Parts: sequence; structure tokens; C-alpha cells
Amino acid sequence: MRRYLFLLLLLSAAFLMFGTNVEAKSQCISCHEKETPGIVKQFLSGKMGKIGLDCSTCHGSEHNKGAEDASLAKLPTPETCNSCHPKQVEQYKAGKHSLGWIAMKAMPMLQHQPTMIVGEGYKGCSGCHKIGLKSEEEARAYRYGSGACDSCHTRHTFSKEEARDPRACQSCHMGFDHPQWEMWSTSKHGTIWQIEGKGSDRAPVCQTCHMPDGDHNVMTSWGFLAVRLPEDDQEWLKDRVTILQALGVLDDAGNPTERLEVVKAGKVARLTKEEFDRERTKMINICSKCHSTSYAKAQLDAGDKIIREADKLMAEAIRIVKGLYKDGILKKPANWKVAPDLLQFYEAKSSIEQDLYVMFLEYRMRTFQGAFHMNADYMHWYGWAPMKETLQKIKDEAEKLRKEFKLAEK
Ligand code: HEC
Ligand code: HEC
Ligand code: HEC
Ligand code: HEC
Ligand code: HEC
Ligand code: HEC
Ligand code: HEC
Ligand code: HEC
Repeated sequence: MRRYLFLLLLLSAAFLMFGTNVEAKSQCISCHEKETPGIVKQFLSGKMGKIGLDCSTCHGSEHNKGAEDASLAKLPTPETCNSCHPKQVEQYKAGKHSLGWIAMKAMPMLQHQPTMIVGEGYKGCSGCHKIGLKSEEEARAYRYGSGACDSCHTRHTFSKEEARDPRACQSCHMGFDHPQWEMWSTSKHGTIWQIEGKGSDRAPVCQTCHMPDGDHNVMTSWGFLAVRLPEDDQEWLKDRVTILQALGVLDDAGNPTERLEVVKAGKVARLTKEEFDRERTKMINICSKCHSTSYAKAQLDAGDKIIREADKLMAEAIRIVKGLYKDGILKKPANWKVAPDLLQFYEAKSSIEQDLYVMFLEYRMRTFQGAFHMNADYMHWYGWAPMKETLQKIKDEAEKLRKEFKLAEK
């Protein structure tokens, strides 16, 4: 706050000195009005432009000649914003969004993809995961795409209003393995928002539930992979262990591997009851602004139980494929640490494992994400139903592979 005051004092001093008839247009703005008029117009229409900040606030003043020295312009990272918005930057850093880059980088299948997909091209994984913090070396090496904060309030308006709109989340939280946009927008909550229009607060939008009071620290109890530790339910724990083994986080004996360190660093799962319950309590308090606490608890409890049922199907499918490895019918690729390895995604080397990965990453996700976003259609027809269908396919395929293997042995 004191920084703002200082800035305002400075601005009013300048105003008093030069009066209203002198245009306080900076060098940057004068030239960029011609070079990139859209950027200047948008910046001046936003709050930071209106109160008199300049292009140089974020891009420095080293570049000031034109195209010939444009490479000297600094491109911002969240550190740039930190000097004036420490609260939001700190919250962002404590939450999951800041970890988006390292979580992506940790995927073993990444080394087989071109950099246009996983690096500076931003055409695939990195196009969404650039919301995370890069290492200092990477941020320096990459010319573009380290802004992160412009993910929800896009440049150069940097509007709070825009970021409050659920559509600000749509470009990333959609599609194959996390269709929260589709699920929410066709649920009752989203439908009410669409009918009543922007500004209606009768039904919750993404931010109501995930960024209450403007908190930039996003985190849920289950997380993306919906695995947690510890687990009281012993049957469920057995299925979870099977899933964690196929994720390469536990070895065959059930001991942690080095991937558990990655899970910890990326906060991929809640690893204590306290962590899980903290997020759960927050969520129930949010629902309870509009629903009874009992109603909200019953809804989330049903979501948990759906994960349990989905895990039964998932573990059964994994055990079938594991059996094929055990009996030598499938051979572990030389550079794989575990097999089957769900984190190899579409790099899986047999069609039965391709089915297994889709069952995990698309259908299991939709089953529980649909339940938590009050979307019965996604939960059932796009999640549960194809899980069952795929399990049957995997059974048939395994039987076929076994028969072929026997024939070949003869
Ligand atoms: C005399 C004209 C001129 C002035 C003055 C000027 N710029 Fe530029 N700026 C340009 C041109 C031309 C480009 C290159 C545009 C292109 O690549 O199409 C550019 C590019 C940029 C870029 C993008 C760099 C990149 O790698 O894409 C930024 C950021 C920028 N200017 C900021 C500023 C700031 C901040 C100032 C004031 C300190 C400033 N400019 C002053 C003409 C100018
Ligand atoms: C509040 C900080 C901030 C201010 C002020 C700011 N920018 Fe930017 N600018 C950014 C961010 C963030 C990016 C994205 C960086 C990236 O992709 O790595 C960016 C990127 C750019 C780019 C390259 C990307 C593109 O879309 O072409 C240009 C050119 C640019 N800014 C020009 C300007 C000009 C001209 C002004 C003044 C009118 C200005 N900026 C003021 C934060 C700012
Ligand atoms: C030199 C200080 C300074 C820097 C650096 C800065 N800001 Fe700001 N920003 C401000 C001030 C001052 C306001 C207006 C605060 C107010 O009136 O509430 C503001 C307002 C905002 C708002 C709210 C706009 C609205 O519609 O209400 C957003 C969003 C924002 N800044 C984002 C950023 C981002 C992202 C960066 C880094 C790329 C950044 N700012 C860098 C000073 C700064
Ligand atoms: C530029 C892409 C992008 C945008 C825009 C975006 N997100 Fe995300 N979000 C991600 C990525 C990537 C992750 C996973 C981060 C990680 O790897 O830890 C994520 C994670 C999350 C999580 C954490 C889930 C967990 O694991 O517990 C929540 C909640 C979330 N986002 C909510 C939102 C909301 C609400 C909005 C809009 C206001 C939004 N996101 C906008 C890319 C985005
Ligand atoms: C359309 C944007 C988008 C693309 C493309 C994308 N992701 Fe994601 N990714 C997200 C979002 C959003 C989340 C968080 C989803 C959730 O929590 O439900 C996420 C979550 C993840 C997570 C889990 C992080 C955690 O801590 O829970 C990993 C790992 C991941 N993505 C890796 C990848 C890889 C590798 C690719 C490319 C093969 C990729 N993503 C492509 C948006 C994307
Ligand atoms: C996932 C989307 C998302 C990302 C990423 C994001 N913001 Fe925000 N931001 C929001 C939302 C939503 C609001 C409005 C909060 C509210 O309702 O008060 C907001 C508000 C703000 C405000 C205005 C605060 C106020 O009270 O007036 C500032 C400043 C701001 N963000 C800065 C940042 C900075 C800096 C970053 C990067 C570290 C960032 N934001 C990244 C969604 C986001
Ligand atoms: C009514 C509140 C509510 C709304 C609105 C809402 N969510 Fe969620 N969201 C939840 C709950 C509850 C969970 C599961 C929390 C848990 O793990 O216990 C969740 C989980 C998530 C996760 C983690 C993975 C998953 O799907 O289970 C992400 C990412 C996410 N939501 C993003 C979004 C986005 C983006 C929007 C808007 C398109 C949105 N949510 C709208 C309540 C909501
Ligand atoms: C801002 C208020 C608000 C919040 C917060 C909110 N809801 Fe709702 N919810 C509504 C309204 C309004 C309806 C529509 C009531 C009806 O169907 O008659 C609704 C409907 C529902 C429905 C019925 C959906 C259907 O298809 O019939 C469920 C289930 C639900 N909410 C669960 C939750 C849960 C769980 C949370 C917290 C994670 C939550 N809601 C948060 C306002 C809210």
C-alpha cells in the first residue's frame, strides 16, 4: 500500500509541475501508438494505464530506439509484478498454478516430444502449463511465455473483471482429461449463470469455489490424479497401491520410488489427512453459503465414493496388464522404469496399454471430476460407462494376447 501511495504522490507531483495541457506521454507510448496501437489502447484502458504507469514499468528502458534494439526490452515474470502486488504473487506461489511447469516437465514421456509441444513453441503441453513458474535459467533462455500472471487477466488490459469471469479459465480447464469448463457450464450451476448473465451471484462460478475472496492459491483436496495418503479403507488402499505402482510412485514391493519426491515437490497429491481436510473444510464452507452443510457434505461424500468405485475398475484393468508382463507376454521397454507406466501416456508400446492410459487419463478423470462438478452426464456417459467398456476391451485383448503367445510357443 505504501508503494502505491509513493507512486501516487510522484504522479500528482508530475501533474502539478506540468499541468493538464502537457501530454505526459512517454517515449514508449508515442512510438508504440504507431508500432503496436492495439497494445497501447488496451493498456491505457486498464487500471494501470489509467493511473499513469508506463510500458517501462514492466519492460525496462533499455530498448528505446525501435526495431533495432527491441531485443533489449525485458519480458516480465511474476517477479516483475511482485514489487507492487506481493500478496497475489505470494498466494500464487503457494498454490498449484505456480507448479504447472515443473509438473509438466516431470512427465517421462516428454523427452519424446518436439519442443514446439513441450517447450517454447507453446503449441501443446507448454501452451497451458506456462501458467507455472519456470526456473530462472529457463525464463532467461525463453524469450516469451514466462508472464504467468497474464493467464487470467490478459495483457495489456490486466483487468480484474476479466479474471473474475469463469470464461477466463476455459482455455485450459477443458477437453480431454480435465473438461471442468464443459462440466460446469452445462451443470445447473453453470446454466443458472448463463441464464442470469454476468454479474449474477446466485450460482457459483469457478472462482467462487476455487478462488474465494480473490485468493490466488488454488488447491483442491483430491487434486488432478485423485490419489491421497493415508487411506483408512483397506480395500480401497489396495486398489490405490496398484494405481500408484502403475504411476511408478511405488515399486512392486510397495516402497516409494524417486517419483514420490516429484509428487511432493509438485504437490500432486495430499499426503497427510490434515492437508486433505483443510481443503475439504474450505470447500464445504463455500457450498454452505448457499446450501445446508449436510447437503454439501453429502454431495462431496458421494464424489469420494465414486472415486472408490472407479479405482476398483482401474485397479482391475492394471492387474490384467501387469499379469501380461509377469508372464512374459509383454516385454518392458529398455528405458522404462516400470511397466505398465501410466505416465508414458500415448508413448505406450501396445494397444492394450493405450487403452489403459485412456481409461485412466480420460475416463477415470471424467468420472470423478463430473461428480464434483454436479454433472451427471459427464460422470456417467463420458466417464463411468466408457470405463466399463474399456475394462471389457482390455480383458478381451489380454485373452487374445495370451492365446497368440501360447500358439507362438508351440
Ligand atoms: C522509436 C520507436 C520505439 C520506441 C521509442 C520504443 N519502441 Fe518498443 N518496439 C518498437 C519496435 C519497432 C518493436 C519491434 C516490433 C516488432 O517486432 O514488430 C518494439 C518492440 C517492443 C517490445 C517487444 C519485444 C519483443 O521481443 O517482442 C516491447 C516489450 C517494447 N517494444 C517495449 C518498449 C518500451 C518499454 C519502450 C520504452 C522504454 C519502447 N518499447 C520504446 C519501437 C519502439
Ligand atoms: C504490468 C506490466 C506490463 C506493462 C506495464 C506493459 N507490459 Fe507489455 N507485456 C507484459 C507481459 C506480462 C507480457 C508477456 C510476456 C511474455 O509473453 O513473456 C508483455 C508482452 C509485450 C509484448 C510482446 C508480446 C506481444 O503480444 O506482442 C509487447 C510488444 C509489449 N508487451 C509491449 C508493451 C507496450 C508497448 C507497453 C506500454 C503501452 C507495455 N507492453 C506495457 C506486461 C506489461
Ligand atoms: C509499479 C507498480 C506495479 C507493477 C510493477 C505492476 N502493477 Fe499491477 N497495479 C498497480 C497499481 C498501482 C494498480 C491499481 C491498484 C488499485 O487501484 O487498486 C494495479 C492494478 C492491477 C490489477 C487490477 C486491475 C483492475 O482491473 O482492477 C491487476 C490485475 C494487475 N495490476 C496486474 C499486474 C500484473 C500481472 C503485473 C506484472 C506483469 C503488474 N500488475 C505489475 C501497480 C503495479
Ligand atoms: C493458462 C492455463 C490455465 C488457466 C487460464 C487456468 N488454469 Fe488452473 N491449472 C492450470 C494447470 C496447468 C494446472 C495444474 C498445475 C500443476 O501442475 O500443479 C491448474 C490447476 C488448477 C487447480 C488445482 C487443481 C488441483 O490439483 O488441486 C485449480 C483449482 C485451478 N487450476 C483452477 C483454475 C481457475 C478457477 C481458473 C480461472 C480463474 C484457472 N484455473 C485458470 C492451467 C490453467
Ligand atoms: C489445454 C491445456 C493443457 C494441455 C494442452 C496440457 N495440460 Fe496438463 N494440465 C492442464 C490443467 C488445466 C491441469 C489441471 C487439471 C486438474 O487438476 O483437473 C493439468 C494437469 C497436469 C498434470 C498434473 C499436475 C498435478 O500436480 O496434479 C500433469 C503432470 C500434466 N498436466 C502434464 C501435461 C503434459 C505432459 C501435457 C502434454 C502431453 C499436458 N499436461 C497438456 C492443462 C493442460
Ligand atoms: C487463475 C487465474 C488468475 C491468475 C493466474 C492470476 N490472477 Fe490475479 N486475479 C484473479 C481473479 C479471479 C481476481 C479477482 C479477485 C476478486 O474477486 O477480488 C484477480 C485479481 C487480481 C488483482 C486485483 C486485486 C484487488 O483486490 O484489486 C491483482 C493486483 C492481481 N490479480 C494480480 C495478479 C498477479 C500479480 C498474478 C501473477 C502472480 C495473478 N494475478 C495471476 C485471477 C488470476
Ligand atoms: C460449486 C463449486 C465449484 C465450482 C463452481 C467449480 N468447481 Fe472445480 N471443484 C469443486 C469441487 C468440490 C472439487 C473437488 C474438490 C476435492 O478434491 O475435494 C473441484 C475440483 C476441481 C479441480 C481438480 C480436479 C477435479 O476436477 O476434481 C479443478 C482443476 C477444478 N475443480 C477447476 C474448476 C474450474 C475451471 C471451474 C469452472 C469452469 C470449476 N472448477 C467450477 C467445486 C467447484
Ligand atoms: C452461490 C450459491 C451456491 C454455491 C456457493 C453452491 N451452490 Fe449448489 N446450487 C446453487 C443453486 C442456486 C442451485 C440450483 C438449485 C435448484 O436446483 O433448485 C444449486 C444446485 C446444486 C445441486 C443440484 C444440481 C442438479 O443438477 O440438480 C447440487 C448437487 C449442488 N448445487 C451442490 C453444490 C456443492 C457441493 C457446492 C459446493 C462445492 C455448491 N453447490 C455451491 C447455488 C450454489
